[in-house]
Amino acid sequence: MKKILITGGAGFIGNNFIRYVLKKRKYRIINVDLLLFPSSFENIKDLMKVENYKFYKGDIKNYKFLLKIFKKEKNIDGVINFAAWSHVDKSILKPKDFIETNVYGVFNLLEIQKLGFFRRFLQISTDEVYGDLPYDTLDKFNEDSPLRPSSPYSSSKASADLLSLSYYKTYDLDILITRSSNNFGEYQFPEKLIPLTILKIIKNQKVPVYGNGRNVRDWIYVLDNVRGIMKVFEKGKSGNIYNIGGENEVTNLELVKKILYFFDRDESSIEFVKDRPGHDRRYSLDITKIKTQLYHKNIYDFEKFLKRTVYWYKNNLKWVEKCLDQNFKKYHLQNYNKRI
Ligand code: TYD
Repeated sequence: MKKILITGGAGFIGNNFIRYVLKKRKYRIINVDLLLFPSSFENIKDLMKVENYKFYKGDIKNYKFLLKIFKKEKNIDGVINFAAWSHVDKSILKPKDFIETNVYGVFNLLEIQKLGFFRRFLQISTDEVYGDLPYDTLDKFNEDSPLRPSSPYSSSKASADLLSLSYYKTYDLDILITRSSNNFGEYQFPEKLIPLTILKIIKNQKVPVYGNGRNVRDWIYVLDNVRGIMKVFEKGKSGNIYNIGGENEVTNLELVKKILYFFDRDESSIEFVKDRPGHDRRYSLDITKIKTQLYHKNIYDFEKFLKRTVYWYKNNLKWVEKCLDQNFKKYHLQNYNKRI
């Protein structure tokens, strides 16, 4: 039976990925996660008794800790790195965490791969490494587009991508990268636009929209990303990058209005706030490569799953409150807490 090690498997995308694999494949899963937020343990608690699943609490920044696990577990076929700080606003306020985990953590994993402890490495990245596109074109980013990251977050991810590709070329290691567009779905931490908007509405507070709300994001339901990641891990060609996008571009204002509509609210619930510094205008991914080379096709309808996500948050307020308790606040800066 194949054995794969997942880093960040208690986070939003990693957790969804583990559940998908346990359901659809016969793999042994080892999950390594720091459990930084109280909600993270809640995300994986029920998996503890599952056969073929093992959990280690620890940090990818810690090389000795990682090496110990690889020595103990032996014969790991592949590693998929989901562990990362991912919130742009937080990266603007506190970039150090992003450099340490998103770059140095990946360096540690690559060094361990170089020692021969596992074969295939899949680095989970983002469309944000390409920078942004103007509003008035139909241009899209493909895998050969230049890297022009705008924020400390996206530049930390671009750095990790480049480091990974250099290990592929220099040390002849089996390495791949996926770059996805904005994910949404159940269990997403309420720092990102969709869960934050839902939470604000539920709490009868104004929804903060940055600038004029014209910025465009390409939204993908998390399970379509997870399916794409699995395809790339199983069938992707080493040294390759694969974009995974939703082909579903929406302005922030349109998106917030859609969510307000589910609650019978109108635009008066929106508060236009000061724009994010360096705010990327538009993201748009060309996903021809994964479609034609790996026969990947998205199957989740945006409107339907947005509605489902809204109802999930409405029905899981306890989980949301856990996200926002004292421990959570400890890791977030004052400005950020004020917004919550
Ligand atoms: P976010 O969910 O933080 O993802 P990213 O910055 O990685 O795209 O933000 C999505 C978009 O929503 C982005 O253009 C910033 C905007 N935004 C708001 O307008 N208000 C908010 O409170 C947040 C969190 C984001």
